[in-house]
Amino acid sequence: MLFPEKEIALKDGRSACLRSPATEDAAEMLAYLKDCASETHFILREPEECTETPEQEAAYLERVSTSDTSVMIVCSVGQEIAGNCQLSFHNRSRIRHRAEIAIALRQKYWGLGIGTTMFREMIALAQARGVTQLELGFVEGNARARGLYEKMGFRIVFYHPNAFRLKDGTLLGEYWMIREL
Ligand SMILES: CC(C)(COP(=O)(O)OP(=O)(O)OC[C@H]1O[C@@H](n2cnc3c(N)ncnc32)[C@H](O)[C@@H]1OP(=O)(O)O)[C@@H](O)C(=O)NCCC(=O)NCCS
Repeated sequence: MLFPEKEIALKDGRSACLRSPATEDAAEMLAYLKDCASETHFILREPEECTETPEQEAAYLERVSTSDTSVMIVCSVGQEIAGNCQLSFHNRSRIRHRAEIAIALRQKYWGLGIGTTMFREMIALAQARGVTQLELGFVEGNARARGLYEKMGFRIVFYHPNAFRLKDGTLLGEYWMIREL
């Protein structure tokens, strides 16, 4: 699914663009994913696990743009990708009312309101599709993500112990949240 391009204003006065990623973004997407993986341990991948080639990433972006169960939005500031978010829908009738959200930004773009703006867009997309429940998870200790999700109306529904294991052996749980629409 494609997201129609939209200009937004950041809290520091800069303007940014919310849009679907294009296959030409593949190399910058990979650099962005690797930066995020280096800057936080609250996402799934270690930096060395970002091993896709630009061709593989381009093929993935193409699949997402033509998928009827997934929409990705990137926030670009100039030539740089500041962050991305993804909304995943279901086609099976028993779970069609649910959709899952994932989001990350490069650290230098945290706190500028991009997360809030992306959530507003994803909520509107989900409502337009008839989804009645949004779902997401955050890893124990990720106060910034929790703050954003609570601000956007999500509440914790369960705790998954030992969901993440860091390189030093630290085990972290994951909280799962929902928001009814
Ligand atoms: C979590 C993340 C997406 C938030 O995006 P963001 O653009 O920085 O969020 P916003 O600037 O829109 O801030 C949203 C709200 O979060 C809350 N918040 C911000 N910083 C916070 C902090 N340090 N502690 C608690 N809450 C905080 C506030 O309620 C804020 O709203 P306000 O500015 O109106 O007060 C971003 O920090 C990020 O990418 N982090 C690394 C990757 C990650 O953790 N992804 C989520 C995995 S579950």
